Amino acid sequence: MAKHFLLLNLIVVSFCCAVLAFESSPMQDFCVADPASTVKVNGLACKDPKSVISEDFFFSGLHLAGNTSNTFGSKVTRVNATQIPGLNTLGISLARVDYAPWGVNPPHTHPRATEIFTVLEGSLQVGFVTSNPENRLITKVLKKGDVFVFPIGLVHYQRNVGYGNAVAVAALSSQNPGIISIANAVFGSEPAIATDILVKAFQVDETVVAQIQSKF
Ligand code: GLV
Ligand code: MN
Repeated sequence: MAKHFLLLNLIVVSFCCAVLAFESSPMQDFCVADPASTVKVNGLACKDPKSVISEDFFFSGLHLAGNTSNTFGSKVTRVNATQIPGLNTLGISLARVDYAPWGVNPPHTHPRATEIFTVLEGSLQVGFVTSNPENRLITKVLKKGDVFVFPIGLVHYQRNVGYGNAVAVAALSSQNPGIISIANAVFGSEPAIATDILVKAFQVDETVVAQIQSKF
């Protein structure tokens, strides 16, 4: 009996933890973000529901290709609670990603979201790396109409492996998924991470660290 009680408690506790690890469910129909509010809450303060209008739930422009003329050859256009105030508290957002031929969306993570990703045009090689100690690369070449998932918090990337431009759309399980670009975070922080730390971490000499830092 005591054993069953313990097991039940364990199940309840792990269920609670799993639930708390994600954005809490809304306690009203919506909570449109109030850009004028100075109140600091986890999320954004709500506008008076009586003053909510259709524009609060609307964004236009995802049909437009992003400008991929940059060092990576890719451009992410994000539609989150900043662009659509009505997404506040709803735990979801969207992105369009454009890739020039051989363009790369470099390794990054979303600390608050799982990403489900679908290719609209072209062919993309995608991948994510599992956590320590395996650090296994799970990778696949996707074509138009294929769907792939990048689990929450894991480092992932995409690369255009076709001859033309490629386009994908990603849905993310947070109104504000956050983006940590690995290279920027490690080599482009402000102030910089001490060189001796990076020398040890990456097992290279100082000149290599300085050279990479100079690019970010
Ligand atoms: C793609 O990985 C994205 O975050 O938009
Ligand atoms: Mn991503």
